[in-house]
Amino acid sequence: MENNLTFTMIKPDAMEKGYFTKIFSIILKSGFRISALKLIHLTRNQAKTFYKIHSNKPFFEELVAFMTRSPIVVAVLKKDNAVDDFRKLIGSTNPEEAEEGTIRKKYASSIEANAIHGSDSDENAQIEIDFFFKN
Ligand code: GTP
Ligand code: MG
Repeated sequence: MENNLTFTMIKPDAMEKGYFTKIFSIILKSGFRISALKLIHLTRNQAKTFYKIHSNKPFFEELVAFMTRSPIVVAVLKKDNAVDDFRKLIGSTNPEEAEEGTIRKKYASSIEANAIHGSDSDENAQIEIDFFFKN
């Protein structure tokens, strides 16, 4: 499988605070190129399907409500070693644990409202890209 694509979402908290251009500036300066991008408002069904791996977690309902509360940007990013390099760039899920200089350290406000998503494997990147960008 190719390892030069990953999938990202700028989550509702970051969109509401107007961090979209600041975050994309960091992404582009870090060597990623945009293959596809769109603004969407997730439906409950889309949010539930996207995060179905977490459907048994106690925070699932809150997560679905959070992800559907306002529009988000979804995008496909291209770079060698995209998935791993992008996970490093965004930082840990919990911003309190995120490394200095990471996007979540700078822009996330809580473990839930953590500004940005990045695929966690090449396989999931392809599934997520198809979910949003295959007709
Ligand atoms: P994603 O890139 O969004 O998939 O985040 P991640 O891979 O760093 O974390 P994970 O897949 O474990 O969790 C998915 C999302 O669920 C997180 O990004 C948060 O928005 C939310 N989340 C994770 N853990 C918690 C939690 O303990 N409480 C709440 N309220 N939300 C959580
Ligand atoms: Mg995840």
